[in-house]
Amino acid sequence: MLWGMKILVIGNGGREHAIVWKLSRDAGGHTLFCAPGNAGTAALATNLPIGAEDLPAIVAWAKANRPDLTVVGPEAPLCAGLTDLLEAEGLRVFGPCREAARLEGSKAFSKDVMTAAGVPTARSATFTRSGEAIAALGAFGLPVVIKADGLAAGKGVIIAQTRAEAEAAIHEMLDAGRFGAAGAEILLEEFLEGEEASVFALCDGERVALLPAAQDHKRVNDGDEGPNTGGMGAYTPAPIATPEVMEAVRERVVLPTLRELRKRGIVYKGVLFCGLMIGPKGVNVLEFNCRFGDPETEVVLPSLASDLAPTLLACAEGRLDPATVAIAPGAAVTVVMAAPGYPGAYPKHLPIAGTEAAEALGCTVFHAGTASEAGQLVTNGGRVLTVTARGADLRTAVDAAYAGVAKIHFEGAHFRRDIAAKAFRHL
Ligand code: AMP
Ligand code: GLY
Repeated sequence: MLWGMKILVIGNGGREHAIVWKLSRDAGGHTLFCAPGNAGTAALATNLPIGAEDLPAIVAWAKANRPDLTVVGPEAPLCAGLTDLLEAEGLRVFGPCREAARLEGSKAFSKDVMTAAGVPTARSATFTRSGEAIAALGAFGLPVVIKADGLAAGKGVIIAQTRAEAEAAIHEMLDAGRFGAAGAEILLEEFLEGEEASVFALCDGERVALLPAAQDHKRVNDGDEGPNTGGMGAYTPAPIATPEVMEAVRERVVLPTLRELRKRGIVYKGVLFCGLMIGPKGVNVLEFNCRFGDPETEVVLPSLASDLAPTLLACAEGRLDPATVAIAPGAAVTVVMAAPGYPGAYPKHLPIAGTEAAEALGCTVFHAGTASEAGQLVTNGGRVLTVTARGADLRTAVDAAYAGVAKIHFEGAHFRRDIAAKAFRHL
């Protein structure tokens, strides 16, 4: 057991609030810092006025303050090499190095690793010229999936229903530069049917501890209608991810990927987020991310019974003992409350009331886009809050989360009313 570590968390969303919250509940009591954090992390950690992508300022702070561990939330600093810079100063980091983060940063690299490792994934091909991509369309059928290679803020994937849509998307990415450098290379990919799930694998380069599967809700409206968002809610465990699926994720996805990376001289330490499609073609990987998912983290970490910091430090030091990771029984649900207009344009500075009342009911309210203005909690983003409840079973957790949501008010707040509904089809 480790006591009283000094820990720096990088990021400012609901995910980072959940990481800070879980760390704050570890035995022993850590000293927590969050860069830059939000109004939620401010209650549990010292927020630092340093942006998550300001690598020089983060490194300067870390050199001066020597945290025992740095936990990097978002992908951008990981892909930019924050881990490498901090490790060069002799510091411990939970989060993969730059080369390993390419599993998220380059879909072509990720596919190449998956193919070499024999990881089940959709058939695909990469292109830099639109003519060649269009000529290859026939081999993929319809619908066809078109993906920008690089980081495109979650917008780089287009599912084309018709050949005309596919050609337009290819031209937009390769000829019109819609995603800039991120879209200078594209993938065409076979469309897979099924249901998605997210599995977080804690990795120390070699060993793996899987956390229970979660399911995100990407579309803004009930019934998976409307535009895509950063995620409108999540629940765990996801019954679609049966024990057989989880076994496949460990044995056929994560371990072979870590092995293939080691062959290439790359050690993956941190969380490997496996975005899965489970359907008629079995378990396939849609994507890897090099970080925890948001809002999945807001249900998965509250379901972790064991302390978080010792596990993350063990990953960082290459000595993870998966047997020390304990999962609490029961289920967890989180409902995102979004600003009016989200995922389009939305106002900020709307006063928020009722978070204490929701917490009094036993919910945990994670802040995503909030700020404190003259002592008043106000909205400061599209996804504003995410309200988590745990329960003995999924039904209890859903009801408790929505009871919490009902206590919280800000002008024009909107949220989905069907979070976890899909799960009940399997139960
Ligand atoms: P990605 O960023 O690769 O996960 O893609 C974003 C979303 O597009 C996924 O969450 C899926 O909903 C969808 N998607 C991506 N690839 C495929 C595929 N091969 N077949 C069906 N849907 C996909
Ligand atoms: N919830 C999906 C993601 O974090 O990418």
